[in-house]
Amino acid sequence: MSNPSLLILPGDGIGPEVMAEVRRIIDWYGTARGMVFDVSEDLVGGCAYDKHGTPLHDDTMAKAQEVDAVLLGAVGGPKYDALDFSVKPERGLLRLRKEMDLFANLRPAQCFDALADFSSLKKDVVAGLDIMIVRELTSGIYFGEPRGIIEEGNERVGINTQRYTESEIDRVARSAFELAMKRNKKLCSMEKANVMESGILWREVVTEVGKDYPEVELSHMYADAGAMQLTRWPKQFDVIVTDNLFGDMLSDLAAMLTGSLGMLPSASLGAPMANGRPKALYEPVHGSAPDIAGQGKANPIACILSFAMALRYSFDQGAEADRLEKAVEAVLADGKRTADLLGEEGVQPVTTSEMGTAILEKLDASL
Ligand code: NAD
Ligand code: IPM
Ligand code: MN
Repeated sequence: MSNPSLLILPGDGIGPEVMAEVRRIIDWYGTARGMVFDVSEDLVGGCAYDKHGTPLHDDTMAKAQEVDAVLLGAVGGPKYDALDFSVKPERGLLRLRKEMDLFANLRPAQCFDALADFSSLKKDVVAGLDIMIVRELTSGIYFGEPRGIIEEGNERVGINTQRYTESEIDRVARSAFELAMKRNKKLCSMEKANVMESGILWREVVTEVGKDYPEVELSHMYADAGAMQLTRWPKQFDVIVTDNLFGDMLSDLAAMLTGSLGMLPSASLGAPMANGRPKALYEPVHGSAPDIAGQGKANPIACILSFAMALRYSFDQGAEADRLEKAVEAVLADGKRTADLLGEEGVQPVTTSEMGTAILEKLDASL
């Protein structure tokens, strides 16, 4: 049998810095665990635009469709702010998500014990937190038509359209219910059915799908109230399912419950491929962090934990994913902190690669 294949797209800004640490971990799995991956690397985002004049070359898109999993760092940066909208770095990522049909974006927010003191919220509120946000990723206002900037009378109008079909809601709801079944059997669906027709349909379809999962306790919340509840008492949630835009915002909010945006991984999953595993792309929730790029300050944990998600969801290696997550936890318990996690006076931050090395040492120790 051939080795499982991975396409690595480091991207821009801190993307290549955090991905370099993931590369070391992939190599470790090859040497220490005999899990050898066929790894290829390519460009996405601003760096792809610099080389090809497009943020995602067709050849890269084709490769992404063929591999077992894609790992992405981050895209974007101020250098590309003035580019035409159609070739902005972010368009490359959106094309990958859309053409691979990665409709279910899993964004787990877990607060490691060692970081409970560090959150901007009180320790009680976040200690032991373990929630999963399922964000719809290939539809909604990100992709709805009509869209654009048009002339109307003597001024311009910016237009985006929130649009959801029943089947789009149905499939992401099923993913969320399936996850809830494997966790604490609680699902909260968030929309704004009080002001948006798409929200009314969303609530109806999720309720209907819920009939197939009678063991799951389903609740509904307006997304604005959901944001409030996520900061008030996040531990009331287990799985949250929501649309593309609300999911984008709520997951950044959830990131800060765990201490830093540099901690949150994600898995974007589509329909099963011939091998039964879902089509998949794994990436940290954070962006290219232009303010710290090139300084060795980036926290690689979100990207490393994204690889752990790949082990679990694409390669059926749940025990190895646990091993990697435990290694991260152990390093944090030792007090190792990248600069984004520093609150305490007098603690020296470690660099991106020192954090990678510390995690590798824990992996070695786990054997
Ligand atoms: P960002 O996530 O890049 O940064 C927000 C803040 O968090 C910054 O202060 C940054 O230093 C910090 N931060 C983020 N990741 C970190 C890490 N791993 N370690 C330490 N600190 C970290 O968001 P932004 O500044 O709003 O966006 C910058 C660029 O990234 C934009 O072009 C945006 O479109 C893009 N972006 C890309 C993705 C992606 O590729 N998936 C996601 C979000 C934003
Ligand atoms: C994310 C990002 C992306 C999004 C951008 C970079 C396209 O913010 O993955 O959270 O808005 O989905
Ligand atoms: Mn985002």
